[in-house]
Amino acid sequence: MSGRIPQSFINELLARVDIVDIIERRINLKKTGKNYSACCPFHNEKTPSFSVSPDKQFYYCFGCGVSGNALTFIMEYEGQEFVAAIEDLAQTMGLEIPREAYDGPKQTFQDHLYPLMEKVSDYYQQQLKNNPNAKNAINYLKNRGLSGEIAKKYAIGYAPDDWQNLLKLSSSSKDLQQDLVDTGMMIKNDKGHTYDRFRDRIMFPIRNRRGQVIGYGGRIIDQGEPKYLNSPETNLFHKGRELYGLYEMRKELRSIQQIIIVEGYMDVVALAQFGIYNATATLGTATSSEHLQTLFRICSRVVFCFDGDKAGKAAAIRALQNALPLLKDAREIRIMFLPDGEDPDTMVRKIGAEEFNQNVDEAITLFDFLLQYLTSQVDMNTFEGPARLVHLAKPFSLAITDSILKTRFDQRLASLAGLSEKQLNDAIQKDQTAQKPVRTPVSASNTENALFEVKPIKIQGKAPFRRAIALLLQNPDALPAAKLDWVKQLDEAGARIFSRLCSLIDQNEGISTGMLIEHWRDQAEETHLKKLANSDLIISREQMPSELADLLSRLEKEIIIDEWDRLIAKSKLQPLNQEEKTSLKSLQKEMLNRG
Ligand code: UTP
Ligand code: MN
Repeated sequence: MSGRIPQSFINELLARVDIVDIIERRINLKKTGKNYSACCPFHNEKTPSFSVSPDKQFYYCFGCGVSGNALTFIMEYEGQEFVAAIEDLAQTMGLEIPREAYDGPKQTFQDHLYPLMEKVSDYYQQQLKNNPNAKNAINYLKNRGLSGEIAKKYAIGYAPDDWQNLLKLSSSSKDLQQDLVDTGMMIKNDKGHTYDRFRDRIMFPIRNRRGQVIGYGGRIIDQGEPKYLNSPETNLFHKGRELYGLYEMRKELRSIQQIIIVEGYMDVVALAQFGIYNATATLGTATSSEHLQTLFRICSRVVFCFDGDKAGKAAAIRALQNALPLLKDAREIRIMFLPDGEDPDTMVRKIGAEEFNQNVDEAITLFDFLLQYLTSQVDMNTFEGPARLVHLAKPFSLAITDSILKTRFDQRLASLAGLSEKQLNDAIQKDQTAQKPVRTPVSASNTENALFEVKPIKIQGKAPFRRAIALLLQNPDALPAAKLDWVKQLDEAGARIFSRLCSLIDQNEGISTGMLIEHWRDQAEETHLKKLANSDLIISREQMPSELADLLSRLEKEIIIDEWDRLIAKSKLQPLNQEEKTSLKSLQKEMLNRG
């Protein structure tokens, strides 16, 4: 674990980078007036509705609504995590990433392990080609129909049958042995002896999204136990996060419409042999929500491929539980079951690529499968049948977070159970409190506001800051010179956001829309702000400062009058205290000043 990347560095990175340049490296942009446009890379379209604004350092698609700054674009387009996207961007800009001091356990994340793993991979590949003892391995792969070309694409190798191969890789590094243990390539036993984990096995390197080798699956040649030996969890390798074949898929395919999730290394490789590169495998684990999130960043349709037997159905149900909460918008999950005894490897060899792909296209949707499965679990002709169905379906219904999907699912369920929707809802709600996943809201950091310990004035029922926020977001130069302390006193969400925007602009010269939005990443307000950043304000950029100034002065006046009214009304009922009297006086003065 290395230290956090300081926010100041992220600010600097976004200040230096030009979003047009970053996006242009990846897709073709056409200049249209002030902005650039393209066919949206995140949904299918024929006429361009994707727009990039150099002024705002912000992109937006009028078709599908995606939006963000340069960092967001890299995350979405490359399917990268936040940190990886920062690394990518920093590398493009030739900047070194500073890390905040990490005062947790000893720093164990070691970048030098990547080149070592690369070296190991080269070695194994070379052994497959040159070691006379690799003949069995080569024959085995050939017998399974694998070409040299595919073996090369997937960097398949051979670990010779020896206990101390890898120590020969380098004579210089004195830490080599420890490094090999740290990467899981060597095992240290109780007596302190170290030896190679993988011996006489066909080696499938697992690469992360950047193509770095982080672990291995090693298959025994022909029969034996265990069939596959896998790298243990290490600092480089986390099974619940990585997907086998994903790097190769992205390298091979320019556009990915759907991704097939299979179970095995050989399935991925065999499908690739048949030209089907859009398959990936989890590493002997169930598909986690992290896996799915990664895939949904790449495309919106994911097809699980399971065995048709009982174990396959059970695996499908397990996968569903992680998948349901992630379904929304255009995201789609489908499930295909193979005939008993087949896996994608054997299947594609039997029926060929075309028919296999057709089966993928025709896969059943997750909801249809779920309803089929649930009804198959109960006898609807019995008295208790419908009640049992509702009981079984409840956890699934509660796991659906998208409101449209949930309504549709509940409608179908109600009609299957012969209940009205209200009856169904009542049944489901009954012990919902016990089951509903609790969402803790992300609280915005309020450091800027903490400085102002002024009694808040309540303003309710209006959203007066909406337009002010939009104006300032779209043109940070519109920040008025006038003091805006009064805004900070308001106890209203919009006022708080507006205040924070003012502080950010004040403290960061030249801050852009895209950079401002960055401060709300993963917070509750992010989506809303992105919309405002792109809402059509009708007026030109040049008119924004004066409109904002007018708007604020009108707002301030209204608030002064409201507060004045409140105090006057109060004074008619009871005498005001000293503080209130002073307040009333200064309000009166303000009102006179303003006419
Ligand atoms: P399978 O047994 O279906 O393997 O396990 P496979 O990919 O079809 O392999 P072949 O065709 O027999 O060569 C599916 C996945 O489960 C994990 C591996 O990730 C494997 O690809 N597994 C299986 C293990 O980790 N260890 C094992 O011993 C077996
Ligand atoms: Mn298989």
